[in-house]
Amino acid sequence: MNEENMSYSTHDTLHQQTPSIGHGQAHSKIILMGEHAVVYGVPAIALPFTAASTKVIVQKNNHSVSYFESEYFTGTAAEMPDEMNNLKQVIQLTLDSFALPKEPLHYKVTSNIPVKRGMGSSAAVSVALVRAITDYYQVHLSDYQLKMIVNQAEIIAHETTSGIDTLMASSHRPVMYQKSEPPVPFDINLKAFLIVADSGIEGQTKIAVGKVRQLYEQRPSMVKDALKSIERFVKLGYQAIKQQDTNELGRLLTYNHYYLNQLGISDPKLDHIIRAAWYAGALGAKLTGGGLGGCAIALAETQTIAQTIADAMKQAGAQNTWILNLAMNEEEN
Ligand code: PMV
Repeated sequence: MNEENMSYSTHDTLHQQTPSIGHGQAHSKIILMGEHAVVYGVPAIALPFTAASTKVIVQKNNHSVSYFESEYFTGTAAEMPDEMNNLKQVIQLTLDSFALPKEPLHYKVTSNIPVKRGMGSSAAVSVALVRAITDYYQVHLSDYQLKMIVNQAEIIAHETTSGIDTLMASSHRPVMYQKSEPPVPFDINLKAFLIVADSGIEGQTKIAVGKVRQLYEQRPSMVKDALKSIERFVKLGYQAIKQQDTNELGRLLTYNHYYLNQLGISDPKLDHIIRAAWYAGALGAKLTGGGLGGCAIALAETQTIAQTIADAMKQAGAQNTWILNLAMNEEEN
């Protein structure tokens, strides 16, 4: 059998097996501590954030070309704008990696993850897309294959990526993550609440990561000192979580924010929202994710205080807020 026949018969088998619809799902994430520093090998702590998630449906398209449908863009796959190059790449890489037929498909994305807010929306859509395509063709997808494909696409979206977004889009437990090391999942069981506030300003992860890199080149000792401090805060933060010391965790969140500010990746509106959280009784507050816009997080002792803080953050300009109970356990995640 020559190669052409061989691949044709594989596709033929696939056609017989494929269900009419492929489903894929992924959720967003919140970086508790260590963003940006994680790009330089410092550990970071991240939580799965299932209140915001993405679903992708893949089915056969009865027209001659593939079609993409999402809130952001609807049209033929060939017409997808440059900002969606990462998703084009995800589709291409998935089809190539599994030697799948290049037939017209209809991709439908629904998501309630705010875009460009430091919640890892691009990685979540990519993860859901790979899962939906492989589900449609009924091929086994390993965690390793998923991460390889999505990380390559994330490099297109963000240039430099630590891989934390990709990991968290499919993780159901909080994780201590260090680049090139196996992730360490753990449980958080704190009598505390985390408020997530969307500033309404599009974050600019790619620009922010570039800005830190430039600062590193211009003032290496200052940036190295900041990275060292952040590393210490993250490690102490991890201990504080283990020891259920919410006051200490709050203090460390705030210190982490000071250093992110020094790295130049906060923003006046974000700082205003964070200050409002401090004044309303937060144990600590900081930006989360790429910065230069995006989201802020704050820690509260009780749900009532969390609500007061969320209201204060809204009054200070936040567009949307979520309250996450940190008395988590594996089942609840
Ligand atoms: O803005 P987000 O959700 O993509 O988070 C980026 C986190 C960074 O540490 C700034 C970059 C990275 O790849 O880790």
